[in-house]
Amino acid sequence: MNLKSHLIFTLYTVYGILLKGISGQYPLVQNVTVTEGGTANMTCRVEYNDNTSLQWSNPAQQTLFFGDKKALRDNRIELVRASWAELTISISDVTLSDEGMYTCSLFTMPVRTAKAYLTVLGVPQKPEIDGFTKPAVEGDHITLTCMTHGSKPAADLRWFRNEKEVKGAKEVNASGKTFTVRSSLQLHVDRNDDGVAYTCKVDHVALTQTPQQATEVLEVHYAPRVEIVHSPAVPQEGQYLKLECVSKGNPSPDPVMWTKDGSELPDLDRMIVEGRDLTFTSLNKTDNGTYRCEATNHLGTSSAEYILYVYDAPTTLPPSTTPPPHPIPPDPTAQLGARASDPTVTGNRDPNALGQHGTDHALIGGVVAVVVFVTLCLIIVLGRYLARHKGTYLTNEAKGADDAPDADTAIINAEGNHAHAEEKKEYFI
Ligand SMILES: *[C@@H]1O[C@H](CO)[C@@H](O)[C@H](O)[C@H]1NC(C)=O
Ligand SMILES: *[C@@H]1O[C@H](CO)[C@@H](O)[C@H](O)[C@H]1NC(C)=O
Ligand SMILES: *[C@@H]1O[C@H](CO)[C@@H](O)[C@H](O)[C@H]1NC(C)=O
Ligand SMILES: *[C@@H]1O[C@H](CO)[C@@H](O)[C@H](O)[C@H]1NC(C)=O
Ligand SMILES: *[C@@H]1O[C@H](CO)[C@@H](O)[C@H](O)[C@H]1NC(C)=O
Ligand SMILES: *[C@@H]1O[C@H](CO)[C@@H](O)[C@H](O)[C@H]1NC(C)=O
Repeated sequence: MNLKSHLIFTLYTVYGILLKGISGQYPLVQNVTVTEGGTANMTCRVEYNDNTSLQWSNPAQQTLFFGDKKALRDNRIELVRASWAELTISISDVTLSDEGMYTCSLFTMPVRTAKAYLTVLGVPQKPEIDGFTKPAVEGDHITLTCMTHGSKPAADLRWFRNEKEVKGAKEVNASGKTFTVRSSLQLHVDRNDDGVAYTCKVDHVALTQTPQQATEVLEVHYAPRVEIVHSPAVPQEGQYLKLECVSKGNPSPDPVMWTKDGSELPDLDRMIVEGRDLTFTSLNKTDNGTYRCEATNHLGTSSAEYILYVYDAPTTLPPSTTPPPHPIPPDPTAQLGARASDPTVTGNRDPNALGQHGTDHALIGGVVAVVVFVTLCLIIVLGRYLARHKGTYLTNEAKGADDAPDADTAIINAEGNHAHAEEKKEYFI
């Protein structure tokens, strides 16, 4: 930066070079990081050496190698290279207890040393998920806990709900040199959680290739919910009709029960129940009625109803050009559709009423139009009446009228006045 510090820096550099040149023998080492179970190479180098011996010793100050001579009986420790410029040893099958400060000594007078720290990474064990006792019931609060032992430094745990990350609560405890990490997830399960996979992944420096993970697939039991799907939309006499009882529940509600107007199906020759489906081979007008499908499991019962109305078969003309014998709503699927039954709703959907609804709408529209027209007429007549009878209002009305130059202004001014508004109302009653 400034000249002074630059000068000092230059001096130190020159001094360093001189020192090396003159008495210049230094052991040079590097810190080493190794994963538990791996092999660590400890290298000590000297740039200038007059055949002075190098030595490696462990954190307990025991000599491992003195030059190429092995000093400690430990099969895991081997010589890699020994020369006047280098002493490299390897420690295989490293354990956490191998961690510490290693010393390389150069036996000059005086002895020069360099220290290298061997860091051993603890590999996290395969995580385990617990806290889930199969199966859960819809509405349950459950806590999934993922735990991994043996990491150093402490591992990170991440949760995924079907590949999408969700946040858990992490807790780290030290046990000896390693850490036990736990992450928990609070869940309020519903039917949408049934079959969902929750995965706990371990993030750690020692896990380079294969990520450690555990997965728990939730099983959630829930009461059935049924729905009737039908085709065709407008059933006609003689036609084939299929009513499908779509039921969802866990455990699966099997079989489903079909009834007509509260009792058993009357004609099992033409009404065929197969699995969840009810099919009519050839519709007859006598088939009119409310069909109900009911599904039950140990958590509850659900039912759906379908009101069948069999229309006349097209006789004279092809169906495409024949106007329907009864008024058919524009979207019969929506109108005649199955209705998932709610115990509180009592189903009574007379298809005849659907036609009447159309007429009713037209009628109501007409009545509303007439009422609006009459109201407008009344307002106009009333306005004229008020203008003619200004005298009455001059006496009855407040401020607005007093300082108005003429009757019209008086009425305008008086608008918004509460008394006037009330008086006006009386005419409408
Ligand atoms: C240690 O050194 C040997 C010999 O140079 C080499 O084959 C090996 O890959 C090294 N191991 C590590 C972990 O660096
Ligand atoms: C170092 O030792 C080797 C062999 O032991 C010898 O040939 C060499 O001259 C020695 N070098 C010095 C600088 O003493
Ligand atoms: C080596 O590790 C020790 C202990 O962790 C640390 O104090 C030192 O700064 C490290 N040296 C280098 C060169 O990273
Ligand atoms: C961590 O330690 C606390 C207190 O000793 C204990 O309650 C908790 O269960 C421990 N957690 C783990 C993950 O071991
Ligand atoms: C409908 O049922 C009645 C009585 O069972 C029968 O007489 C009639 O022929 C049937 N109609 C059709 C179209 O099948
Ligand atoms: C079926 O409904 C139609 C229309 O309401 C009606 O004409 C017919 O008589 C009904 N048949 C029975 C058996 O209820």
